[in-house]
Amino acid sequence: MIDTGKIASWMLRQLDPELAHEIAIRSIGAGLAGKTTPDDPSLKTHVLGLSFPNPIGLAAGFDKNARAIRGLAHLGFGYVEAGTVTPRPQPGNPRPRLFRLLNDGAIINRMGFNSCGIDQFCQNLAHLYRPSHNGTIHTGSHPIGINLGINKINAHPLEDYPALIGRVKSYADYITINLSSPNTPGLRDLQSADMLSQILDAIQQKHSDRPPLLVKLSPDIDDESYEPIVEAAINHGANGLILTNTTLARPQTLSSPHRHEAGGLSGRPLTERSRHVLQHVSQISKGRLTLISSGGIESGYDILQRLQMGASLVQVYTSFIYEGPTVLTRLKHELLDAMSRENVKSLSEISAVSSAS
Ligand SMILES: Cc1cc2nc3c(=O)[nH]c(=O)nc-3n(C[C@H](O)[C@H](O)[C@H](O)COP(=O)(O)O)c2cc1C
Repeated sequence: MIDTGKIASWMLRQLDPELAHEIAIRSIGAGLAGKTTPDDPSLKTHVLGLSFPNPIGLAAGFDKNARAIRGLAHLGFGYVEAGTVTPRPQPGNPRPRLFRLLNDGAIINRMGFNSCGIDQFCQNLAHLYRPSHNGTIHTGSHPIGINLGINKINAHPLEDYPALIGRVKSYADYITINLSSPNTPGLRDLQSADMLSQILDAIQQKHSDRPPLLVKLSPDIDDESYEPIVEAAINHGANGLILTNTTLARPQTLSSPHRHEAGGLSGRPLTERSRHVLQHVSQISKGRLTLISSGGIESGYDILQRLQMGASLVQVYTSFIYEGPTVLTRLKHELLDAMSRENVKSLSEISAVSSAS
């Protein structure tokens, strides 16, 4: 049988990466990319007080301006994280800024938070919602995360993050503050325990009534430095961490022509480091934070292992770019297969075991 999803992904890969991305967002946003069948009930999971039909989310950066959330959920993601959105619109870095490293199953990007800005972002979101007795409620069955960042120029993180939260809190099922993209000068310095504590306090003061709050961290932090950051996150009111963003590291194994481009590296070369950071942080946080694993996920077997290492959910980006929507069918099939081999009947069984250990 002809797999139209695979053919469409192949065709998109022949185009300039940003043009391909724009075509994908428009067609998914217009509902042209189709709809999958409901998930196997054993993939259902309950995290952060929310119900997820499966644990595989779309990582931030694909739908930066919240233009295709519903269509993306229909492709089979368990949830979608939109953004990163910045307070004011900004163009991002000059092109070219997105590079496929085909031989390595990787991408390098230095997009630099190209964003329509929070006003347009909220307008794009608004049509997914209807009024309810306690504010607004979205009409889909998949949780929506919103990922927040700061502008390149005139940023005031202690004011900007709380202000952005004020704008999106009635729309988001969870909110991520992104302190780890490598393409905004100074952003990753906000990951220090001291700065993180100040940002979280500023948020807490203004928005004690917010949805669950996650912090997205870089894989390039020294192993010893994660502990104070994790403790600051716990003590200052974060509910969880996303581990990890892209890396500035360039493993020796890279062989693609674009391997020396500046920017954040994602995909297969990030797998090992992302798994290591998850395991390390899981040992530090001991069930006190919800962990979401992101970085080089290419198989359902890897997903099961990450859930067993302490993640409650996972996110993919690069493997979705290379394989298209069919990656989700494969990942879920492999995850179910891995679960059956290990006699795991449901994902809630794993979270019960990892929070008890
Ligand atoms: C082109 C591109 C743009 C991205 N933009 C963002 C972003 O705006 N905000 C963010 O938090 N992460 C961003 N990321 C990082 C991804 O969300 C993800 O954490 C990272 O790519 C690792 O997952 P992967 O190996 O499955 O791609 C971006 C990644 C790529 C490849």
